[in-house]
Amino acid sequence: MKSAEVRRKYIEFFKKRGHVEIPSAPLVPENDPTTLFTSSGMQPLIPYLLGQPHPLGKRLVNSQKSFRSQDIEEVGNNRHTTFFEMLGNWSLGDYFKKEQLPWIFEFLTKELELPKGKLYVSVFEGTGDIPRDEESVRIWKNLDVPDERIFFYGVNKNWWSRSGEPEHMPPGEPGGPDSEVFYDFGEELKLHEKSPWKNEKCHPNCDCGRFMEIANSVFMQYQKQADGTLKELTQKNVDFGGGLERMVAATEDTSDVFTTDLFTSMYRYIEVLSGKRYGENQEETRAMRIIMDHIRAAVMMMADGVLPSNKMQGYVLRRLIRRALFYGRTLGLLKDWNYIGQLVEPIAQIYGNAYPEVVTKAGEITLLLDEEAMRFGRSLDKGLAEIEKLPKLDGKIAFQLYETYGFPWEMTEEIVRRNGQQINRAQFEAEFEKHKAVSRTAAAGMFKGGLADYSEETTKLHTAHHLLLASLQKVVDPNIKQRGSNITAERLRMDFNFARKLSDEEIKKVEVLVNQTIKENLSVTRVEMDCTDAEKIGAQMEFGHKYPDRVSIYFVGPQDKFFSAEFCGGPHVEHTGILGHFKIIKEESAGMGIRRIYAILEVA
Ligand code: GLY
Repeated sequence: MKSAEVRRKYIEFFKKRGHVEIPSAPLVPENDPTTLFTSSGMQPLIPYLLGQPHPLGKRLVNSQKSFRSQDIEEVGNNRHTTFFEMLGNWSLGDYFKKEQLPWIFEFLTKELELPKGKLYVSVFEGTGDIPRDEESVRIWKNLDVPDERIFFYGVNKNWWSRSGEPEHMPPGEPGGPDSEVFYDFGEELKLHEKSPWKNEKCHPNCDCGRFMEIANSVFMQYQKQADGTLKELTQKNVDFGGGLERMVAATEDTSDVFTTDLFTSMYRYIEVLSGKRYGENQEETRAMRIIMDHIRAAVMMMADGVLPSNKMQGYVLRRLIRRALFYGRTLGLLKDWNYIGQLVEPIAQIYGNAYPEVVTKAGEITLLLDEEAMRFGRSLDKGLAEIEKLPKLDGKIAFQLYETYGFPWEMTEEIVRRNGQQINRAQFEAEFEKHKAVSRTAAAGMFKGGLADYSEETTKLHTAHHLLLASLQKVVDPNIKQRGSNITAERLRMDFNFARKLSDEEIKKVEVLVNQTIKENLSVTRVEMDCTDAEKIGAQMEFGHKYPDRVSIYFVGPQDKFFSAEFCGGPHVEHTGILGHFKIIKEESAGMGIRRIYAILEVA
């Protein structure tokens, strides 16, 4: 089945069961500083899973653009991708297990026509105070799934939250047990003589290649508490996620997602450019998959406004492009750095209907990719010259080359072999691990201070963020728009479009206006309204971003004479008076045409 058909069937199936379709949120989350990318459909819905009423009701469905950077090293096999589309349906305190599991089973077996005999399911086996999920077992059995195809797993496999098992969840984070469906591609895959699992007992979650998870119903009913315990949420939610790529692969009975229609026009292009054939040679096929995955992810990110840089999302984007270029060498694409720009067209063709921004920005994205590729070409020359000068290369230097010039390990290794030198991979990996530990700590820091904990400090800074944006528009330039935000319990950070440095006088005036608004103790109210009405009154919204028909707007001040009106999921304080004293601590460049402000709230 074609991907567009699977996507359409899924949305229609749930619409017929009372769900309202919501648009995909952008890949870079809005008003959620806890994470760099939208990595699942539930992420933009956190406030609603925690109990805030959603303007469109209790049953929602969509296909969400998602990106998971932790999967980057795994790309190259037949199923892992960094970017993917997640089909999702949600019950916000409405239906629960006895509706969800039969619906998903019906969708898979009737709409997608997957043979029942090829489906396996998994269920939560219980932990501590949280019991084994007997109710789901009963439901699966009623659906004629036999005992031998029902498997039990613990928190490492059948518990879902954005940060994994309960002990890794930060305070405030919702999560719960889940029940997954796996597609069986057949015994022969497991028995493949090269499989590292060929002598082990096979089970749906063993990753040998025989089974692929295609559907995950999360029963999101718990929230992590500051004391480390899990508390039942006031409402029991369903959060379903199923990878579109994987569902399409199952309908075609192929274990290789890269042979579905989402990729075929891309690899045909690469075949023409390189003269190599997909599937013929293992190394070359791996290289093609990496290029396809990374460039698709890069294009989708750029369509959502991410630019290559050395920080945050921009750094991830740069890394994707560089890795793709490096793997082009395996295919003999050595000199024509701009070949990756030519992949934008097949990607725009596949995604144009579902995500028109890819088509409207295709020209711009191609230019950016070409420029980035040329830059890396130069960086590669510099790095190679550096290597020439070194008497001996070790793993530590290989890591520095990776950090400084973006040389992936494989690339340094290849160059050094050619020189007849030996290089220590363990040392490189040790450095890499150290680096990962630092990034994990940074990520944990983001969680700690982010909106996920809904702490009082973060909430106050979130409201101050709205005041800052409105003040910048009133004092400096009405065309200023927010281009990124990050709020911790200590400070807020806002990126916005503006061509030059702000003067000291402008900064002072902005501070004065924010503090005046705080003194006036204006009310902060959340109002649900039609998107078109929100546009008419001039509420702050992202240009070119698709919003649902009903949206939630936060007003500072009276609705008919507001100081600020912004599309936002909250949370916010009720009155500005409690914010304290607002102070800008830094103003700097954050890229071409983008400025960045850091600000804090002090006790008044
Ligand atoms: N939110 C469910 C999933 O990502 O599988």
